[in-house]
Amino acid sequence: MKIAVAKGDGIGPEIMEAVMTIFNANGVQLEYEYVDMGKWVFDKGYSNGMTPEAQETIERLGILFKGPMETPKGKGVKSVNVTARKTWNTYANKRVFQTLHGVDTVFSKAGITIDITIVRENIEDTYGGIEHMLTHDVALSRRFITRPGSLQVIKYAFEMARKKNARRITCGHKSNIMKITDGLFLECFHEVAKEYPEIKADDVIVDDLCMKLVTRPDLFDVIVLTNLQGDIVSDLCAGLVGGLGFAPSANIGDHICIFEAVHGTAPDIAGRNIANPTALLLSGITMLRHLGLMQNAADIENALLYTLETGNHTGDFGDKGTASLNTTDFAQAIINNFGKKPEKGAKPDLPNKPVTPTNFQLLKNPLIMTREMQDEVIVGVDLFIESELQPKEVADKCLKHTLGLFKLVTISNRGTQVWPTGSIFTNLVNQFRCRFESIGDAAVTQTDIIELYKRIATEFKICSSELLNMWGDKKAYSLAQGQ
Ligand code: NAI
Repeated sequence: MKIAVAKGDGIGPEIMEAVMTIFNANGVQLEYEYVDMGKWVFDKGYSNGMTPEAQETIERLGILFKGPMETPKGKGVKSVNVTARKTWNTYANKRVFQTLHGVDTVFSKAGITIDITIVRENIEDTYGGIEHMLTHDVALSRRFITRPGSLQVIKYAFEMARKKNARRITCGHKSNIMKITDGLFLECFHEVAKEYPEIKADDVIVDDLCMKLVTRPDLFDVIVLTNLQGDIVSDLCAGLVGGLGFAPSANIGDHICIFEAVHGTAPDIAGRNIANPTALLLSGITMLRHLGLMQNAADIENALLYTLETGNHTGDFGDKGTASLNTTDFAQAIINNFGKKPEKGAKPDLPNKPVTPTNFQLLKNPLIMTREMQDEVIVGVDLFIESELQPKEVADKCLKHTLGLFKLVTISNRGTQVWPTGSIFTNLVNQFRCRFESIGDAAVTQTDIIELYKRIATEFKICSSELLNMWGDKKAYSLAQGQ
């Protein structure tokens, strides 16, 4: 079996070297094809941070094991870590946070055992990075939550929970505020949950979830979240088990999977051979299991757990009263402990059953669609305009141009209604949303809307627009605060 390996930047090469030494010493039957990705590839002029050869190799082999990579600052380039996850549709980001004996935390000292798996949606949300300055004062980020994307990651989470014999799966969300986007994610969660009646499925608002995680983390098992909320909650969980040095991550897709640590390149300690390789090693162990190399995974994990349990540590954790090991010596300590079992949490011996890699030759981009809309009617438009006028003055100008087809329903500023009713105390910025709906909710055409757009453009700069659709009797848009 062959996999692609990218060493990464900063501490990346040091911790990758440590992990590879452990793999080789354990006789892991994998071949490695090293690929060029990361900061120095950006510096060579590849704007996505990887060479075309690297892309070809990863797409051919289907597995990428990677060290952390730096995103050059001030060059306007996007993170190669995020690009890789999105380009290859690794829609589920699985992060396991477990109590590691020998790694002291508030909870381990209190005898509370943590075993939480976070499944974070990995492609969508604000990570689309679709952002615009609408005026000099107003920035807008688009947040995509899609039904196919949500179903993909939620189904993965339930399948994983079933395999893990999980007692509970929880959806973290903020659908009380983001009723349409997080509402869609939550709807998909409860839809999928019906197919898994044996698993207790519940949902918790994300702020409440954070509070509960830091007070009773042992009550949680599998948690599925949208991308940004998942990112934040998983770092919180890393803190619960001892920090980023212990947080592995697997990016799972149907064709390509990426295994990496949660932490970054740690530039403050790079090149000093003192970084903790545990998170990358745990990611590598997850990869071995994914490839069916169960015995290697168990051997290495047991040796790692034994090494931690017996008090060996790098400088970022452990008993400050005992000398810390450098990266190389920590890896060697793990190798020396092959064959030993930890007192707590030992992994069972299972035989290797290598997974035969599937040759994915895609001829066109897969389109994922879950339902077709039959009864969609356009009933209006939101026009986002730039103006320094007061709401009443904006309304007066808009009302001159409604073409006998539209009514001006509401004007809002940063989502809060300021016309026809509102408060003088609502601060304004120089961008308003003017909502035009058809008279009597009759259907209007895109041509009608373009005509309206042309008229309003004679009064204001229109920064952007959104159609207002009705699906049967359901509004496919939210109301303004106070509308
Ligand atoms: P970071 O995770 O690199 O460092 C945060 C702190 O944790 C630092 O004090 C660092 O020394 C410590 N730390 C991290 N990993 C450690 C380890 N294995 N052993 C011991 N200490 C460790 O986060 P930061 O500083 O925000 O990011 C640095 C760079 O990494 C940035 O360019 C960022 O874009 C990139 N990054 C890359 C990621 C990836 O490749 N998936 C993820 C996160 C950040």
